[in-house]
Amino acid sequence: MTKAVVLGAAGGIGQPLALLLKGNPLVSDLGLFDIVNTPGVAADLSHIATPAKVEGYLPPDDGLKKALAGADIVVIPAGVPRKPGMTRDDLFKINAGIVRDLATGIATTCPKAFILVISNPVNSTVPIVAEVLKSHGVFDPKKLFGVTTLDVVRASTFVSEIHKDLSIAPAVVVPVIGGHSGITIVPLLSQSSHPLPKITAEEHAALIKRIQFGGDEVVKAKDGAGSATLSMAYAGAEFAAKILRAVNGEKGIVAPTYINLIADKAGGDVVKKEIGQELEYFSAPVELGPEGIVKIKSIGKVTEAEQELIKAALPELAVNIETGINFIKAPK
Ligand code: NAI
Repeated sequence: MTKAVVLGAAGGIGQPLALLLKGNPLVSDLGLFDIVNTPGVAADLSHIATPAKVEGYLPPDDGLKKALAGADIVVIPAGVPRKPGMTRDDLFKINAGIVRDLATGIATTCPKAFILVISNPVNSTVPIVAEVLKSHGVFDPKKLFGVTTLDVVRASTFVSEIHKDLSIAPAVVVPVIGGHSGITIVPLLSQSSHPLPKITAEEHAALIKRIQFGGDEVVKAKDGAGSATLSMAYAGAEFAAKILRAVNGEKGIVAPTYINLIADKAGGDVVKKEIGQELEYFSAPVELGPEGIVKIKSIGKVTEAEQELIKAALPELAVNIETGINFIKAPK
């Protein structure tokens, strides 16, 4: 019996994500919460012939608490998305408060749940959730994840395009580390399961840039109607499926994700040494188990050029982290 909950379930990401979770046989209960439309989304999904029992809630009558009651996994895609010309940081003003309030609901209702944060800017919203949980004395760094899977999915797709063979895309594995915005996204192409064919230095640089700024392609193409929703829902469901499998006892599942490095001694210190900075949060491959992170993996052998990308990511990441922490610890 595993209950998954989506907060922001009526949105562009929330709806297809809820659909994919409804199709996951490991989900027995699916709770949906949003400030609009969840009864309709829940009624619609409830007709699908899969095991998950679906319930939708709105804010009145303690809807958030009802949705979260008994949750094992909470996925958060609530908040506003980008419009052309906006960076993920521009979203902070609105999304920080939304994420804080939802995290408070989790802290008081289902503090032991796995928490998967999709709402941007992920580099800052994950520290916000952690600080809220800390203030309630229920923070477990092994169970809090920033969802960076879309960067990983994009890397697989774009690398397979370079190979001129999309059929290999599902099998291409490229570790993507760092954070989840622009230059903080660091793809380790040298570790690709499918080594790159001979390409020029310009093509190599363009590939890195495309993985870092792939979200902008979607924002531009949607022309004011939002950012990635369908590919994000796919990526979010992929990551949630890995968590569900780990919760159900499957061993050896590894996924890159944005996590707290300080409080977790399961390898966080190794990563900090590798990147050469005392950062509190970083995206790295982690091994998952029924209680959350089993081990934060070493980022492995990187090229000199990749070391430079990591170096370039650190200052922005450090500022993003501090902004998130201060939003709770030292509100202005
Ligand atoms: P959307 O606007 O289509 O949906 C957001 C939903 O959140 C709406 O249904 C809205 O009613 C709901 N919402 C707002 N305040 C809420 C609250 N207090 N409680 C519950 N629900 C609330 O936006 P979309 O496209 O689904 O994006 C959602 C978030 O995901 C954005 O912050 C976006 O930047 C982020 N995102 C993250 C990605 C990642 O890789 N981590 C990729 C793409 C988007």
